[in-house]
Amino acid sequence: MQLPRKKLESPAEGVSRRTFLKGAGIAAAAVGVSGVDVAGETPSSQESLIVGPGPVPFQLTINGDTRSIEVPPSTTLLDLLRDKLGMTGSKRVCDRGSCGACTVMFDGKIVDSCSILAIDAVGREITTIEGIGTPENLSALQQAFIECDALQCGFCTPAMVVSCTALLNDNAKPTRDEIRAGISGNLCRCGTYINVFEAVEKTSGQGGRDD
Ligand code: FES
Ligand code: FES
Repeated sequence: MQLPRKKLESPAEGVSRRTFLKGAGIAAAAVGVSGVDVAGETPSSQESLIVGPGPVPFQLTINGDTRSIEVPPSTTLLDLLRDKLGMTGSKRVCDRGSCGACTVMFDGKIVDSCSILAIDAVGREITTIEGIGTPENLSALQQAFIECDALQCGFCTPAMVVSCTALLNDNAKPTRDEIRAGISGNLCRCGTYINVFEAVEKTSGQGGRDD
């Protein structure tokens, strides 16, 4: 089963690309972001509300914890995670939705956190690499990455693990083609793809072979 990388560009789903650009560079407007409480007002999804350009308070659910946030509405989810919350497992490489190094789960679906406004994550379950395992308590997939030598420099690895975890959550025994599709948005400059395939297959009880 293919696990497409989720794109959030529709105003019905969140903040539009146009709004993103305004928020990032000119007027900092958040339009119809349900659940955002600014100065005690909670707009309906039909209303428009200008917020910013200064910091705006809101809450996010990250790795199961509710976090109180106060950042300008132009802040991307990646910038929030890395620069405000110290969660540096998500990497900034291209910063434009091309490499997948910043992959996180958004309600279980993989997204590029560099391409989403933090304020657009209100009401969503965000899962980062920090929520998947720790050095003392690795997930089965992380252990398989080690055993299958599925990393070299390691820079792509946290995001690769997030994508593979989302894939396995969705499909316990993915085929080689399904694994290939599941990590198609994650670029590895060291070329560890074959070993990543083996790590996923090992985790799913399919032997970790290279076929
Ligand atoms: S840093 Fe987000 S896709 Fe490259
Ligand atoms: S292990 Fe170096 S970029 Fe993937």
